[in-house]
Parts: sequence; structure tokens; C-alpha cells
Amino acid sequence: MRDPMNIVTHSYEFMHHRRISRVLVAAVIAFAIGWIGLCSDKINIDIEENADTTTTSNKISDKINIEKSTSETAKNNLLFQLPLCKPLNLTAVQEGIICLPKCDPSVADEGSLHPNEKINLTVQTNRDKYPGEYGKYRIHFPEEEIYLHVDGREYKKGGEAMHPRSVTERLFRRVIAKLFRAGVLDPTKNIINTGSWIGDNALPWAMMLEQLTTKPGKVIAVDPSPMYVNNMVNTAHLNLIGNVCTHVTVYSAKTGIVFTSTTEHMGVNLGLKRGEKQINMITLDSENITNLALLHIDVEGHESELLTGAMDLIKTSRPVIVTEGVSGLTDSNDKKVAEILRSLDYVHESSEIPEICGWNKSCRNHIWWPDQDMKDSAMKVIGNDLSRSEIVPWVSSELL
Ligand SMILES: *[C@@H]1O[C@H](CO)[C@@H](O)[C@H](O)[C@H]1NC(C)=O
Ligand SMILES: *[C@@H]1O[C@H](CO)[C@@H](O)[C@H](O)[C@H]1NC(C)=O
Ligand SMILES: *[C@@H]1O[C@H](CO)[C@@H](O)[C@H](O)[C@H]1NC(C)=O
Ligand SMILES: *[C@@H]1O[C@H](CO)[C@@H](O)[C@H](O)[C@H]1NC(C)=O
Repeated sequence: MRDPMNIVTHSYEFMHHRRISRVLVAAVIAFAIGWIGLCSDKINIDIEENADTTTTSNKISDKINIEKSTSETAKNNLLFQLPLCKPLNLTAVQEGIICLPKCDPSVADEGSLHPNEKINLTVQTNRDKYPGEYGKYRIHFPEEEIYLHVDGREYKKGGEAMHPRSVTERLFRRVIAKLFRAGVLDPTKNIINTGSWIGDNALPWAMMLEQLTTKPGKVIAVDPSPMYVNNMVNTAHLNLIGNVCTHVTVYSAKTGIVFTSTTEHMGVNLGLKRGEKQINMITLDSENITNLALLHIDVEGHESELLTGAMDLIKTSRPVIVTEGVSGLTDSNDKKVAEILRSLDYVHESSEIPEICGWNKSCRNHIWWPDQDMKDSAMKVIGNDLSRSEIVPWVSSELL
């Protein structure tokens, strides 16, 4: 099917500063996309995971190279059709949460995605190198045990950026998936995921819940970027997902307007009184969400404000809460998060997942348990995974 003489190989790299400078990402990607248009040879997009919030010099540079093979023969060989439902128009300010209707295949357009086409994805860290061959349009998420169709043709549609996510933060993925599978987290209850970016957590979680129960909870995926939310909506449609809801907004301690120069990977600066763009800021409590199993917060330092506006939700649902921070909760945002959650009788110490940057750096995902009983049940399921004492990579091989 693929004519070897006709393969064009692109090498992609891609910049992803996890916490400190996500704002750079949009610019780098825009640059990279421009470059793709001009040059068919080599493209470098650095994936740089720099999650250490305490020092900027202390960074590791993990790289992902995607070697993408395409041939006209393969492209033109359309073996199946994917439904292409219309994306929502999310440029307009949106009143509340929208739950996506499951895309109706009867209105499907002809797709052009080749099911067998593969790319080589090589994840390099400063320690090792983990190569692997992955479906270009169908990504396996081993922890959630799902396959996610993506439109890999354009970054705008979320496909390119989605590829590495099935192997990054795999321990975190494993922990969450195991908790749902074991029933420690209830799959008929809801998940909030903010900032949801292109849906790299929200969509696999939604599909996993659909697999686990006939009455799956909703995954409410929230991000200030209309572009990223549209990417996610496209991918949700491709996968006929029926339990994703979304809202383009910023959750904070009170209602207001956030001024910003970019809505992509933005950090909230409440001090700014003007900016190119405005985003509505609301409290999570004002959304009237109930039955929450999991609150996953990755909002670039705005965590404590978000929690301040979510006290009723947390008191009524008692969800497991995941925040990004540093080891030992030593930075000021972590301290505020800890203070708020401890005041709500969450277990005093969070559990730490070290893989974002490895043990030698300080960044961590923190899991906050609503009570000791739940923590005890959880530890029976994930205790071994969390007690790893070797360097925890953020890629698959060592976890297999
Ligand atoms: C999306 O909504 C905005 C604002 O309401 C409107 O100006 C724009 O034309 C709409 N775009 C599409 C593709 O419908
Ligand atoms: C990926 O790499 C493997 C091993 O080098 C090779 O056999 C395979 O053909 C490559 N696949 C693609 C799509 O380039
Ligand atoms: C939430 O509930 C309050 C009080 O009943 C109501 O005023 C508000 O409109 C509701 N908000 C949403 C988004 O449904
Ligand atoms: C982390 O620190 C340990 C002990 O100091 C050292 O042996 C190891 O090589 C370090 N790993 C990395 C990836 O720097």
C-alpha cells in the first residue's frame, strides 16, 4: 500500500513548557505551522517539559520527535469514513456549560483518514530513548484502554498535539484509570477537567467512563481558549463521544473579566486592567454541578482562587482533587491550596505523582483525598504505583 520510494519524512518537535511559560507554546506552534507550510523537509518542534516552578534554570529537556511518513498513495487510499460533525462556534461568549450531542454518523461527510497509516514517535529524555510506532489517526491510550481517532492533518484540529499524550504522564493516567476501574472513583459520577487544553485527558476519560458503565458521568472540560475547546469538540465528534460537556471560561474566586494577551495556555493575572482579549471569569459554584467524582485542576497557578470559588461544590460532592504543584507543597500557591483543602477536612497530606519531571526535580501532581477511608481504599489499588522509588519516566516503557 505504501510506496517506499514515495515516502516523505517529516520530523516534528514541539515546545511544551508545562507550567512556567505555556504562553510561549502558541507562538512556537504558530511558527511551526507556518514552517510546515513552507518547507517539506525537516521541522523541529521541541517538547520541553519544564514543570519545575521553583527554578527556571533547573530544566530538563525531553524531546519528542515524530517521524511522519505519508505517501500520496496512502492518502488517496480511503478505506473508511469518519463522521465530520460541525464544530460548535465557540468564539462567542458562552452563557453556561454546553454538553455536546453525540455526533450523528448519518450526517457524516466523507472522511479521508487512512486507518493503517502509522507514524514513528520517539520520546527522548536526557536518560533514554523510547521509540514506538503509533497510528497516525488512531491513538492507543493504554491506561484508559481506549483508541482515540484524531485528525492528524492539521494542528488546528488537535491531532498532532494529541499524539505524545498517550505516553506522557502515564503514571498519572494509570492512577486515575485504576481508581475508576476499581470503583474507588464512581464512573457514573462526573469529572471536571480544567484547563482541558485539546482534551488529552478529558476525551480518554470520557470514553473510559462510557466503557465502564451504561450510565457514564459527564466529563466537563473547561478552558479559556476557544481554539483548544474547538479542537476538543472536533475530536469528540470523531469519536462519537456522548458524555463531554464544555465551557470556555476561567474559574476563579469571584465573577469578573480577565484581561489577557492570549487565551492559549494563559495564566490568569488579576492585576491586568486591559488586554487584547477578555475572558469571562466565574465561580465553579455558579455552575451548579453535582455528583462530582474528580476535580482535575491545571490552571497555571490560579488553583487557590478556583478552589475559593468552589467551596460549595467541594463540600457537597467531596471529589478527589488533583492539582499541579511542587514536592512537599512548598510553593506559595501549593500552600494556599493545602490550607483550603485541609480546612475542608481533606486528608492533611496529598499523595504525590512525580513523573512530570522525574524524582530529581520538584514538580508533582498532588492527589487530595476527601477522607482517610477513601485514601485507604485508593492505596490498596494504586499504592504500589505511587511507591516507586526509582526515577519515574513520563513515558511508557518503564511502566509496562
Ligand atoms: C461565530 O460567532 C461569531 C460571533 O457570534 C460570528 O461573528 C462568526 O461569524 C461565527 N462563525 C461561524 C463560522 O459561524
Ligand atoms: C518505524 O520504525 C521502525 C523501526 O525502525 C520501522 O520498521 C518502521 O517502518 C517505521 N515506521 C514508519 C511509519 O516509519
Ligand atoms: C444555579 O443555581 C442558582 C440558584 O438556584 C441559579 O440562580 C443559577 O441560575 C443556576 N446557574 C446555572 C448555571 O444553572
Ligand atoms: C537523580 O539523582 C540521583 C541521585 O543524586 C542520581 O543518581 C541520578 O542520576 C539523577 N537522575 C537524573 C535523571 O538526573
